[in-house]
Formats: sequence, structure tokens, C-alpha cells
Amino acid sequence: MRNPAQVATVCPSSPYLTQAISDRDCVRQADTIVELGPGAGGTTLGLLEQLSTGGRLVAIEKTEELAAAAAEIVDPRLHVEHADAQDLCGVLRDLGIATVDVMVSGIPFSALPEPVAKRIMQSVHQSLAPGGRFIAYQFRPDVCEFARPLFGPPTTETVMLNVPPLQIHVWEKVETLDPVVPQTVINA
Ligand SMILES: C[S@@+](CC[C@H](N)C(=O)[O-])C[C@H]1O[C@@H](n2cnc3c(N)ncnc32)[C@H](O)[C@@H]1O
Repeated sequence: MRNPAQVATVCPSSPYLTQAISDRDCVRQADTIVELGPGAGGTTLGLLEQLSTGGRLVAIEKTEELAAAAAEIVDPRLHVEHADAQDLCGVLRDLGIATVDVMVSGIPFSALPEPVAKRIMQSVHQSLAPGGRFIAYQFRPDVCEFARPLFGPPTTETVMLNVPPLQIHVWEKVETLDPVVPQTVINA
């Protein structure tokens, strides 16, 4: 309530939203998931429900009280970091994590200054493994504009049973393509 622009909601995510975010094969098959903006941990619990026993979940939360609340979840697969998503690459480096299979984000891209939003998006793309998924739940579409140059268009679904209703966008980081062989080499 004290910081609506940063927290971007007045209610925790509904069970319907939490399930729509986490009930996915990519979550079940992931070794490493990173959550940006777990809040008090509603979505975090949903992800932990689906995560394999050998998987790990790193949750990065900027608001100190919310990071403390999320850190009360007792699960050896979870690591909560009180940090800004702008420091994503540094946090992962310090934890010895080279690549991420799934990145989930509830941080309000529409409320971020443009250079900050672009920097976070660049870090998300850089951190994901080829074939990795970026899942963003938002009530404004700005995130799609920041993602488009790096990820292309998303697949989008709307979850009405949440306050407010919002959209889940999912992108896949394309596998690295084989280098293009110049036509002159093919003809030689
Ligand atoms: C929509 S709320 C998350 C809701 C939560 N996942 C739930 O289950 O109810 C967005 C969260 O992103 C956090 N946040 C905003 N900007 C951030 C940033 N730059 N880095 C990390 N967390 C951020 C806010 O503090 C807030 O907890």
C-alpha cells in the first residue's frame, strides 16, 4: 500500500493466477527457475509445488518486508535474495548459476523508467538458456514492447479470476542457429 508503483498490486496473486503461471511442463522440467518480484511468496509456493525435487528456485525481491516474508517459506530448493532485478546477472554470478531454464516475472515493467526496463530485459535474455522460457504476468502490455527486440512476439493468455485481471505472456529464447554458410561457399 505504501509503494503501489513498485509493488504493482494491492492483493496477492489469486490461486487461479498462481496455477496458470506454474502448472507448465517447462516449470516441471526446469533445473533452475528465477522469479523476479515474488512479493510475499504466493507465486513462489505455486512454482515450488511444480518444481522437481532436484530443482532450485531463486527469488529476487526488491521490497525488504516482502523479501523477508518470502524467505519464511521453508524449502531447501528456494533461495530468496533481497535485491533489485537490475542486479540479476550479479546475483546469479554470486550464486554460481550459469544459465536459467525458466524466468518468471511479476515486476511492473510499465512503472519502470525505460532504461531500467530495457536493462532488466537484456539481463533476462542473457541469463536464459537457449530454449528457456520467460513468463511475465502483467496488467499493462508494456513488457511486450521491451521483450520484442530480443524475444519476438509472446503467446498470451488472460486470467480473469485475479484482482486485477491480468495477462500472462510467455516467450521462448530461440536456440542458437547454425552460422549461415555464405552462398559463395556453397557454390564453390
Ligand atoms: C505484482 S507484485 C508480485 C506478486 C506476487 N508474486 C504474489 O504472488 O502475490 C510485484 C513484485 O515485484 C517487486 N518488484 C518491483 N520492482 C522490482 C525490482 N526492480 N526488482 C525486484 N523486485 C521488484 C515488488 O516489490 C512486488 O513484490
